[in-house]
Amino acid sequence: MKVFESIIETQNYIKSHSVGFVPTMGALHEGHISLISRAVKENELSVASIFVNPTQFNNPDDLAKYPRTLETDLDRLEKAGCDVVFVPSVREMYPGPAVLKIDFGRLEQILEGAFRPGHFNGVGLVVSKLFHIVRPHRAYFGQKDIQQCAIINRLVNDLSFGIELVFCETVREPDGLAMSSRNVRLSPEKRQAAPFIYQSLLQGKELLLNGVSPAETERQVAAAYNGHPDFTLEYYEVVAFENLERIQHYDPSVKTAVVTAAHLDGVRLIDNIIF
Ligand code: PAF
Repeated sequence: MKVFESIIETQNYIKSHSVGFVPTMGALHEGHISLISRAVKENELSVASIFVNPTQFNNPDDLAKYPRTLETDLDRLEKAGCDVVFVPSVREMYPGPAVLKIDFGRLEQILEGAFRPGHFNGVGLVVSKLFHIVRPHRAYFGQKDIQQCAIINRLVNDLSFGIELVFCETVREPDGLAMSSRNVRLSPEKRQAAPFIYQSLLQGKELLLNGVSPAETERQVAAAYNGHPDFTLEYYEVVAFENLERIQHYDPSVKTAVVTAAHLDGVRLIDNIIF
């Protein structure tokens, strides 16, 4: 496995006709490894990047506390069969101030965007840069970040990147908690409470399937969060998969998602289910 810190070395090395790319911020878990394994299987050359992108953090504390585990990450990538890892410094990625703004319109204002202003601009910027550096044919993302998937889809279509996007199902712990690099920050006690998030999504789905309206579903589940001693809810919404806008009526023939973000033990966790 080759590890490069510079853009030029990375570009010079990657000449294959079939490049599968998995951008990450490190602190890799089974969810990331499943993306890498797919990229290894489906492409001649598999490339991962590890870069904790400062422009997508609106909260400096969150950036400072983001777990950094480079040695373990490289080890895991090598074991998964990854061919190339790009590990740039902040200076390599942003030699000057990042002033470019990509406006995603309404898509960046709802859900995550409402609570993390500027987040998707930072994601759009870094993913564009990484796509130009790696020049992949396919890129792999996890559906836990459902809105990020929609943003990147918009980016690739509107800027004609010509990259096939592969969105992969959320990988969960046996108790249902979605895998996330942030999970390691939970104390053992609060980690026990964490599956409540996935249960809240399943509860929402159940209510909708039983004819409860989206608004009433949101209300009932929000009340369950508010009654829970450990959670502070940011949002819980029933949305159309197509545009992530809240829906008035649930139609089983239309792809729907229930999406949530909540704080537990000072850690912000997100999750969703699609059905
Ligand atoms: O999902 C992530 O880990 C990041 O948002 C990404 C896509 C690597 C961009 O920094």
